[in-house]
Amino acid sequence: MFGFYIEVSKANLHLVPHHYIRKQTLVNGERFITPELKRKEEMILSAEEKIQRIEYELFQETVDHIMQHLDCLTNLAYIADVYHYAKPKMTESDEIIIKERRHPVVERHIKDKQFVPNDLTLSSQHQQLLIITGPNMTGKSVFFAK
Ligand SMILES: Nc1ncnc2c1ncn2[C@@H]1O[C@H](COP(=O)(O)OP(=O)(O)OP(=O)(O)O)[C@@H](O)[C@H]1O
Ligand SMILES: [Mg+2]
Repeated sequence: MFGFYIEVSKANLHLVPHHYIRKQTLVNGERFITPELKRKEEMILSAEEKIQRIEYELFQETVDHIMQHLDCLTNLAYIADVYHYAKPKMTESDEIIIKERRHPVVERHIKDKQFVPNDLTLSSQHQQLLIITGPNMTGKSVFFAK
């Protein structure tokens, strides 16, 4: 608050060099500054500000870097939230179990109709293969589209 200073007691005032500049008089002594001390004071007091500026610049650089790479992923996360898509749980097993699967593109393009979700289970033990037949336009291709 008062800045940096050199405090000298009354008894030692006669030892103070000529280039010391008087700053404040106290009951028991005097406070002095020197041009060098003044320079150091400015350096130290502005360091905090400088640190904050550099930190902020580094933070911005990091954000810019992340934005370039994560733009796509954050978009997918947003879409997943909006349309309630679930993240698949990957396991080492030989099963594929999908519950209430929807096709993200077709679902958005059938305007007045509701998309009918379907389940799918494939495993080497119980069901390795599906043969799907049916009339035209009944959703066979959409069922298999990823
Ligand atoms: N699960 C679903 N829920 C609602 N609509 C669907 C669904 N699946 C498909 N459709 C609609 O039915 C249309 C036909 O689907 P798809 O092309 O998969 O049929 P298809 O059985 O392969 O037909 P084709 O035998 O002519 O090849 C799609 O364009 C879509 O609009
Ligand atoms: Mg087809």
